[in-house]
Amino acid sequence: MSRLYGDKEDINSEKVKDFFNKRANKEFDSDLSIVLFQDKENSEQRHIEEKKLLFENIDVSGKKVIEIGCGIGRWAEALHDKCESFLGLDFSEDLIEIANKSQKYDNCKFQVMSATDIKVDELLIEPPFDVIIFSGFLMYINDDDIGIVMDEVNNIGSENMKIFAMEPISCLETRLTLKDFYSEGLESDYNAIYRTEDEYFEVFEKLNCDKIFADDIFKDLSDHTETQYKYFIVE
Ligand SMILES: C[S@@+](CC[C@H](N)C(=O)[O-])C[C@H]1O[C@@H](n2cnc3c(N)ncnc32)[C@H](O)[C@@H]1O
Repeated sequence: MSRLYGDKEDINSEKVKDFFNKRANKEFDSDLSIVLFQDKENSEQRHIEEKKLLFENIDVSGKKVIEIGCGIGRWAEALHDKCESFLGLDFSEDLIEIANKSQKYDNCKFQVMSATDIKVDELLIEPPFDVIIFSGFLMYINDDDIGIVMDEVNNIGSENMKIFAMEPISCLETRLTLKDFYSEGLESDYNAIYRTEDEYFEVFEKLNCDKIFADDIFKDLSDHTETQYKYFIVE
């Protein structure tokens, strides 16, 4: 159980998958708590604020959207009546099952697939995608794999793709990695990487885009002193 500062430490993605499959089968007052906060009200407030933020920054009308690491598919509920189509990918079979049961829209599809091994020929909606969403997902991807994910996005994104990313980041001078760290809040061992804002800029510079914008979100929802939420628009 460790809280590691500074060095680039890998986390075990099988443990991440296991963590989310277990949460998919836990009883919560709201499904949002499976992927957001334990607390129902905080999760609902965050969902509302995130939707507002996306709509303020990205015009999805008539666009093909893909979310990598889609969890329970909550973004489909927000976007289905605005976008042309929505495809959610996740490596947790149990979360995709929830998404398929709870988000039944003709133009939305969900699919079990690892973000680090996107099989383009098997995607249920054909690329290219105009909007790519990462929402609380890159924090579970190791540094060597994050380059793979960015290459894949360059491959499946349209020429004018826009990326909307929201991630908790480190507000220290260095990154923080939680490795098999017992979280009282989550009542489980937890693995995640809180990169610095500069590290995320380096990640997004790998994309075939020219502009990266970043700003804070949820200052009042976070009670952590070492991490904060940030959103990025890359175009
Ligand atoms: C905190 S949840 C966020 C879910 C969703 N993006 C949302 O905002 O509601 C993180 C998600 O990333 C998924 N994930 C993590 N690593 C992944 C990988 N290598 N491939 C696919 N999905 C992954 C998890 O299964 C989980 O559903």
